[in-house]
Amino acid sequence: MKGVGFSFKHAGISAKEIHAAAPILSTAIFQLNSIKDKGYDGCATSINLPADKAMHLKVKKLAKKYKKAAVIVVVGIGGSNLGTMAVYDAVKGKYANFYEKKMVLFADTVDPDSIERFSNAVKENAKSKYKVLLCFVTKSGGTTETVANFEILYSTLKKYQKGADWVVAITDKGSKLWELAHHKGWDCLEIPKYVGGRYSVFSPVGLFPLAVAGVNIDALLKGAKDMRNKCLNIDITKNPAALSAIALASHYRHHNKNIHDTFLFSNDLENIGKWYRQLMGESIGKEHDLNGRKVNRGITPTVSIGSTDLHSMAQLYLGGPHDKVTTFITLDSFNKKMNMPVMKEYDALASSIQGKSMAGIMKAIEQGIKTAFAKGNRPFMSVVLPDKSEESIGQLLQMKMMEMMLLGRLLNVDPFDQPNVEEYKIVTKKILAG
Ligand code: PA5
Repeated sequence: MKGVGFSFKHAGISAKEIHAAAPILSTAIFQLNSIKDKGYDGCATSINLPADKAMHLKVKKLAKKYKKAAVIVVVGIGGSNLGTMAVYDAVKGKYANFYEKKMVLFADTVDPDSIERFSNAVKENAKSKYKVLLCFVTKSGGTTETVANFEILYSTLKKYQKGADWVVAITDKGSKLWELAHHKGWDCLEIPKYVGGRYSVFSPVGLFPLAVAGVNIDALLKGAKDMRNKCLNIDITKNPAALSAIALASHYRHHNKNIHDTFLFSNDLENIGKWYRQLMGESIGKEHDLNGRKVNRGITPTVSIGSTDLHSMAQLYLGGPHDKVTTFITLDSFNKKMNMPVMKEYDALASSIQGKSMAGIMKAIEQGIKTAFAKGNRPFMSVVLPDKSEESIGQLLQMKMMEMMLLGRLLNVDPFDQPNVEEYKIVTKKILAG
């Protein structure tokens, strides 16, 4: 299997800058190596998820029990569903519900219109004996949106799916949901305590619903594990997570670039961009640094889709302020071959596409935009995925999570906490309590 490619050539970072980051990164990578495969005692231990055979076995066994589920509703928000959505869309396709046997729905925000549609889907499928499975995913066990959505969907499920109380709770051991699940007799999977939401895609949070939905989680984890080993390389010039972190930190600190755009050339990868947005937004956006100083640090993550957004954003990216670093994520091969017909009468409308492959046209566009970026002195990195297989996606997500851990170190912030998110959650609860 070909690995994910990474190019730093146009990152606009000098050898001196790489050298300057080396002491901090060497220590950080050394520390990551020292916790490798040693359980979950500490926030960075999410790097151990891809190699946790006992957990994988447990997940797969439970997924087998629910393999007849025709509708899977993942009820969760933020770190509790973004990774699952990202992998599912990448592997199965953005519009998979139109052609896959199983329907997978993601209930996150409390939008009454969406939840009513989901509730109808639960009702129709439960009534007609297609089994519906609710995955109730919340690390804390008490996020307002998740609980609200679950209550609505579960009421419908109970009413129509007689004798099959198909709920799997995925939460921290000892949370209020953990207790409720045991009281109700629901199956329950544990999220390791120190694995935060945005680093939890390779825990039961992502693995269980993905396995029931027919995603090959063995291949996903193999990809993640291979990449983990690459990103544990002490030689930072060969470590893609380290190089990417250096580019982002250096541009932020020394070149006034506080926006990171992830430019993905595939519709199916859009949710990977959204997953990364949370990863970067919550990990790096901090009021205080590790010394307790008020710094209001942060790099704003944005997501663009190629080639669509070239028709809306390229003007800004190429002509606007020099405040961005871009990571292009492209594919070596798409799942389908689409060849253009030869219809000469269209030559005058769009020339030179007759008989070409659609992927070939996409490649030309990718090369065109990269050339324009290089010419305009717009820094960028390139990540090339062999394809959208589980193995490739596992590699990509693992690389990005390790990049974020290292970036946190370079910017002297805690990449694992989210105090301001917790703050808003508490206030919401107070308002609802009147
Ligand atoms: O990263 C985070 O901590 C948040 O985005 C959470 O994932 C999100 O708020 C959901 O929290 P919980 O899983 O506790 O329901």
